[in-house]
Amino acid sequence: MINIGLIGYGYWGPNVAKNIHVNPNLILHTICDIKKERLLKAKNVYISQTNYEISYKKLLINPEIEAIAIAVETSGHYKLVKEALLAGKNVYVEKPFTSTVKEAEELKKLAKEMNLIIHVDHIMIFHPIIKKIKSLIENDALGEILYIDSIRTNLGQIKKDVSVMWDLAVHDLSIIDYLMDAKEPFYINAVGEKFYNPKESLCFLTLRYKGFISHIQSSWISPLKERKLIIAGTKKMLVFDDLKSEKLSIYDKGVDIISGKNIECDDYVVKIREGDVLAPYIKQEDALYNSLEHFRECIKDGKQSISNPDKALRIQRILELADKNMNKQIV
Ligand SMILES: NC(=O)c1ccc[n+]([C@@H]2O[C@H](COP(=O)([O-])OP(=O)(O)OC[C@H]3O[C@@H](n4cnc5c(N)ncnc54)[C@H](O)[C@@H]3O)[C@@H](O)[C@H]2O)c1
Repeated sequence: MINIGLIGYGYWGPNVAKNIHVNPNLILHTICDIKKERLLKAKNVYISQTNYEISYKKLLINPEIEAIAIAVETSGHYKLVKEALLAGKNVYVEKPFTSTVKEAEELKKLAKEMNLIIHVDHIMIFHPIIKKIKSLIENDALGEILYIDSIRTNLGQIKKDVSVMWDLAVHDLSIIDYLMDAKEPFYINAVGEKFYNPKESLCFLTLRYKGFISHIQSSWISPLKERKLIIAGTKKMLVFDDLKSEKLSIYDKGVDIISGKNIECDDYVVKIREGDVLAPYIKQEDALYNSLEHFRECIKDGKQSISNPDKALRIQRILELADKNMNKQIV
């Protein structure tokens, strides 16, 4: 049994609390939020099944608490992760890990020195559909990957401390990193606009990797909520729509060159290949539950999380470079 103290019970914190609470091997020891009304909300749910604190410092000095889960705004992650590590606690922290690469590097070093685990909740890599797609790619069911196209949009919640790219595209970057074995892009570009916000609330990110390209659309100002990923391979193509009940469709479709190979010299013939669409049965699992369970196993077995600071750093380096290249004028 591992006692966890949760800091942050705003929009996302209640989901983290619930998934700690329902895990038979974790104990939701204390919930902390600086806002009294948020603590009252928590008390209405958990009554006497947990403890409540306004000050996170109380959690850090409590020897019963072995791990801290952090679900405060991104701008607050660095300070809390650092203090939790210095207090000797293993850390589960929401995505994005920190606000800068520099902060992430410092925390990675500190965790190593303290021999503690940092698990960043890149929740999508614990999603059963993403795990299924990973196995399809590993078994060469899709062939060579041509492109990965993702759209993640809704109306709001416009955050002040991060751009929509840091808030939403981080999910897609973590998916690509996982599916494509930590491949890193050699070309990064982004266009975005700061509607209603000092940071971008709409962003189109384009990336070139060795062998494939990717496009990620993130928006807080769309009339439609969408969570859709399209992956095209030379053998098969797929669509993962997280908002549908049948989330994964695998298309036996593609393009074959049937004669001639020399595209430059125009001596080739291409044919569109159309076939069945398969919607495989995939057992429902809660990605957040899986993420927390993986964190628990890492503490129990003393091993690194698959969602460790190195992974977060690969993603944040892309985000920082995209910020640097945002709306770069070429004429
Ligand atoms: N994994 C996911 O899919 C997912 C989804 C949504 C949000 N998130 C992440 O969760 C985190 C929280 O997002 P949110 O939308 O819930 O934010 P929020 O603003 O709704 O809630 C944050 C809460 O933390 C509390 N808080 C802030 N500083 C504190 C401190 N020092 N001590 C105690 N309490 C403190 C605030 O009072 C607030 O109640 C962000 O990092 C966000 O990116 C992840």
